[in-house]
Amino acid sequence: MKILLTAGPTREAIDPVRYISNRSSGKMGYALAEAALAAGHEVILISGPVALRPPAGATVVNVTSADEMYDAVHARIREADMAILAAAVADFKPAAEANRKLKKDRGIPEIRLVPTRDILASLGAIPNRTFFLVGFAAETDEIAANAVNKLSRKRCDVIVANDVSDSKIGFESDENAVTLYTKSGEIIVLPRAKKEDLARDLIRIFCNLIENR
Ligand code: PMT
Repeated sequence: MKILLTAGPTREAIDPVRYISNRSSGKMGYALAEAALAAGHEVILISGPVALRPPAGATVVNVTSADEMYDAVHARIREADMAILAAAVADFKPAAEANRKLKKDRGIPEIRLVPTRDILASLGAIPNRTFFLVGFAAETDEIAANAVNKLSRKRCDVIVANDVSDSKIGFESDENAVTLYTKSGEIIVLPRAKKEDLARDLIRIFCNLIENR
């Protein structure tokens, strides 16, 4: 199977030296890429800026911003049998990037934000799509309700929810704990474990769901 994965954060430029981003390290997405390769799949990894070694054998496309990630995903999605979007894509970006460094002596700048394009929702909206679509949901509260809402709103086959208010799991940590919500109403709980171990289980579960669809 050919699996397209996104991982890491995006950076939204304010000026040539400053940006808006988030705490994603890329560890969850890279662990999924390694697990998919180990299971014999082909991997296209579309990665935001991270400090991780590229998985050997994956086709890696490095991007910086949400717009670049959107374009890179859409350039390759037609060849994919499965897409797993684990990246923490910025929801907002500055309306305009200043072409020179903003100077302190000019006063505090007001930065107007505009929404980025939603990559997951755009994949869910492709008519008659044949690839299996997995989204992640990074939540701090009402995890189940918010995850199920994302599952249907973004038309995924599965959403993988994680609690990003717990510093021991989720962002940056080597461990995670996730709950899967499937389109057919199944709920699968994977308790706290190393991201490598969870990734192996997740790839196996997604492949089983595809076989039984
Ligand atoms: O990278 P790590 O440090 O290992 O941390 C892992 C993680 C916490 C980043 C990961 O497990 C995770 O939860 N990734 C999704 C983060 C996120 O942006 O969640 P969200 O609930 O805001 O977005 C929901 C889904 O829409 C995600 O699949 C996201 O990739 C996608 N999205 C969001 C915004 C956007 N403009 N385009 C998108 O495709």
